[in-house]
Amino acid sequence: MILRRFPPMGVYETLFKFADATGQYMGDSGTHPWAQGYPLTTQIPGGPSLPTSVEVGHLDLKYPKATGEPPLLTAIVDYYNRFYDAGITTDNVAVFAGGRPAIFATLAFLLEDTAIAVESTEYTPYYDMLNVLGRQVHLIPSRSDNRFRPSVEQYEIAPGDGARRFMLVKSNPCNPTGVALGGSALKQLIDMFSRSESGALIDEAYEFYCHPEPDSALRYIEDIDQTNIFVIGAATKGLQVPGMRIGWAVAAKEHIEIFRNYSSFGMGGVSRASQLYVTELLALERVTQARSAIGKYYSEQRSRYAEGLAALGFELFTGTGGFYHWGRVPGGLTGDELNERLFRHGAGILPGRLCDMARSAGKTSELDDFVRFSFGPLQADSYHQDMQILSTCLA
Ligand SMILES: Cc1ncc(COP(=O)(O)O)c(C=O)c1O
Repeated sequence: MILRRFPPMGVYETLFKFADATGQYMGDSGTHPWAQGYPLTTQIPGGPSLPTSVEVGHLDLKYPKATGEPPLLTAIVDYYNRFYDAGITTDNVAVFAGGRPAIFATLAFLLEDTAIAVESTEYTPYYDMLNVLGRQVHLIPSRSDNRFRPSVEQYEIAPGDGARRFMLVKSNPCNPTGVALGGSALKQLIDMFSRSESGALIDEAYEFYCHPEPDSALRYIEDIDQTNIFVIGAATKGLQVPGMRIGWAVAAKEHIEIFRNYSSFGMGGVSRASQLYVTELLALERVTQARSAIGKYYSEQRSRYAEGLAALGFELFTGTGGFYHWGRVPGGLTGDELNERLFRHGAGILPGRLCDMARSAGKTSELDDFVRFSFGPLQADSYHQDMQILSTCLA
């Protein structure tokens, strides 16, 4: 073995355990994929349909441009300028093969003397990326005692131990908690991490999944070229196409140039066919319809499942965004113990410990009795069966 060893990201750990216990892949028909972070990939009520083909000519078989094809870059720019008055151009955007590659590239090329600030309850892969890249990490408390809603003062931190500056890494809406910052609270955070040499990576994968309305950091950035802010978006959730593998970073031109250089030696651009497909999804009229339909359908699902889970005894801390419920399991069970019971019914949740940025193998986590319940892939008519299975497993 000549490679460094590391385990799969937490969600996959759960998927593999599920497969071992049930002989099925979570997400196959007949399973109840509450651990999974994907949206419905079918037309939702009031939403636009999803194209079933994409036309590819011989020019599309050439190498793509390093930071993205001009029609997709233009569609992304038009989108942010239309909805958030972002004032960006195509020189501010780089396309990647999904949201995670955009996040990983940003973290990989940070200057050595940059420390990471991250909330203690966050998106599982941040943990793996920061570990593999060996970054110095400062945890901002996001726990049950602050209801997973750090106050603005808790982000006021000073670098130490050889670090000159901080880069905040934050999902907004947050996966797993659903806590969403918008309006003046988001503006305050952006202002705070635009000061001096600091920076922020704001991961807006769940932008559309927000009640009553989506918001974006791009609304509050005066001139992105003067900042170290990176806004990450993806077609994965909002546009309902995780399989297309398209994500992007919006940042200062000089940062986008670094991504272009990286792409030239390490990526070779992103599939043109996928870019063509996603360009179509971002047509302004279509995306306007998608934003409002996603917001409506998933807000209804969020409320319905909140009621059902609370009635079963879950103590919920969920915010107003995303497609997860975040809460404490009743009856003193841990997330892993609940999963053992759920697996027998072809169901599974994500144990909360996998969202603990402070976890270490073999040790207990503050989030052992928490779970993330995903309603992203669920059709509206699965609700009663979902509640039935949970109720049986908690009895
Ligand atoms: C917080 C967050 N960021 C980014 C992503 C994007 O992932 P992908 O690499 O699948 O586009 C996800 C998907 O699970 C996510 O939950």
